[in-house]
Amino acid sequence: MSLLSADKSVPHEGRTHTCGALRTNDVGRPVTLKGWVDTRRDLGGVIFIDLRDRYGLTQVVFSPQDDAKAHQAADYLRSEWVVSVMGIVRNRSDDTVNPNLPTGHIEVRVHDLEILSTSEALPFVVTAHGQKRRHAGEDLRLKFRYLDLRRTELQERFVARHRLYQCVHRYFDKEGFLEIETPTLMKSTPEGARDYLVPSRVHPGRFYALPQSPQTYKQLLMVAGFDRYVQIVKCFRDEDLRADRQPEFTQIDVEMSFATEETVYELVEGLMQTIWKNIKGVNLDVPFPRLTYDHALERYGSDKPDLRFNLEINDLSGVFENSGFRVFDTTLAHGGAVLGLVAPGMGDHGRGYMDRLDKYVRRTIGAGGLIHVRIPSNESDPISSVKHHVLPRSFVNRAITACGAHVGDLLLILSGSVPTVFEQMGQLRLHMADELGLRADKVNGPWRFAWVTEFPLLEWNGKEERFFAMHHPFTSPKADDLGTMESNPGRVRARAYDLVLNGHEIGGGSIRIHDRDLQQRMFRLLGIDEDEAQERFGFLLDAFRFGAPPHGGIALGLDRIVMLLTGATSLRDVIAFPKTQSAQEPMSDTPAAVGKQQLSDLHIRLAPRNGG
Ligand code: AMO
Repeated sequence: MSLLSADKSVPHEGRTHTCGALRTNDVGRPVTLKGWVDTRRDLGGVIFIDLRDRYGLTQVVFSPQDDAKAHQAADYLRSEWVVSVMGIVRNRSDDTVNPNLPTGHIEVRVHDLEILSTSEALPFVVTAHGQKRRHAGEDLRLKFRYLDLRRTELQERFVARHRLYQCVHRYFDKEGFLEIETPTLMKSTPEGARDYLVPSRVHPGRFYALPQSPQTYKQLLMVAGFDRYVQIVKCFRDEDLRADRQPEFTQIDVEMSFATEETVYELVEGLMQTIWKNIKGVNLDVPFPRLTYDHALERYGSDKPDLRFNLEINDLSGVFENSGFRVFDTTLAHGGAVLGLVAPGMGDHGRGYMDRLDKYVRRTIGAGGLIHVRIPSNESDPISSVKHHVLPRSFVNRAITACGAHVGDLLLILSGSVPTVFEQMGQLRLHMADELGLRADKVNGPWRFAWVTEFPLLEWNGKEERFFAMHHPFTSPKADDLGTMESNPGRVRARAYDLVLNGHEIGGGSIRIHDRDLQQRMFRLLGIDEDEAQERFGFLLDAFRFGAPPHGGIALGLDRIVMLLTGATSLRDVIAFPKTQSAQEPMSDTPAAVGKQQLSDLHIRLAPRNGG
């Protein structure tokens, strides 16, 4: 069922109906419709227009018998003109009924036509309801975004997005949450990306930062006693963009006093059930499965595993010990791992396919090389792999058994350092799932949610030779690991969790540190000394001196949820005016240069470019 045709919006602004509303029981009614000319056909002196608005399409007919003047005027109509028509609803003749259109059994015979607006020739065709997507490049479509947004496919996504906002508001209101706005011009918060900065005119040399998230403010609201906070909020991060990352995006931001992990899981599972029920008509099973970060990495090579299919990673390090194969021996001697993945039913693929797979692994995944073991479906054909004298067949056979590979399967093996090789195998796992068509249906599910838990508290950055917070510095360590924070910081687990859906991280949060001393210890691990901590987060540390309740929360990526709900493949399809990969907005040509005076008001002098 189309989301648009389900919309029961009451017509207004002089319309009696929308273009998606009329049915056979309206036959005989006088009606007024307003909308865009979607298509126009002239069939032997009778002119047929598909009139479009965001609710649907209605066929309107101009014939000299119904009204000569209207018929004459209709001759001028062109695509995307905006018109108002008055006429009578009639049954379509049997041979012109369109069963694919909700309004396909009726038409409106027009008696009066008013042209409200004309349109120049369009830079690309705006596709009619139900027709195939046209092929204009994305740059052009973003430049004329308001035209692209006329497409049904995109409009449906924004209807879903609207419904999601309503679900969220209703759900949290019912659960006793208060929606409170936090500042957009604020001090830098530590989510790990670069800040967008706004220079202060009044305070030369000082800058506001746009929020990467309202993290510190929502914690302060807990200290203030607000107890259950929610906000649908814009966040800004200057980071490398991908299909599921935009520089400005929207979070459903949540914080709760006295919460434990279980409180958060239950709340969010209820929210997801409500959203999926409302928007997809699907009942989700709860509780969602949980897996630890270590397990996710070991089995799926990712902290956001796609659980729609198995294809689990097998650690074959033990199997290949002392195999005599130089690459494996060296890797294992240096603490690395050898991993195997079974692609079921792909054992009969030939040389050419293996070469392409090799290339993919080296170029796209960045692994050193791939070993394949082909087990043909014809049992009398030999298993093909690396030559016997390089890797003895007994090891290959043991690997086949260890992975549970069968006749007709393809076993793929990668080796390398940990955790990199797990991540590479995780990418290969997704690639093979695509090859097997296991990720094809983006609209109908299945919907595989999971909580990933027990993230490491810290992440070692080899380049800078120091630890970073894996979530953010306010995340609480697990009580069991408090004793080893200083002696073995890399092994400390956090009370942090991510919500993943079909291979996407759709939310992340944690139980926070609410104790000033523990917070100082955390800062020390991050190499932030007391002065710097005071300078950057003094306001939060100070607040913790005055009765801070234990608290925790989560932020859900609203855009990502809409993307997955609507089967879109990019966030650009669910944000009305998105940014490109290079953080530009082509329609308004943002970011733009500003005048000298404005720069001078902001105390900014631009450095000459290219040394010129
Ligand atoms: P985190 O950084 O994990 O947590 O963000 C929460 C969720 O926001 C979404 N998200 C994004 N969506 C689109 N484009 C982006 N650039 C982008 N970055 C993040 C993801 C992610 O799971 N303050 C913490 C939350 C907390 O601890 O309560 C935070 O922002 O879906």
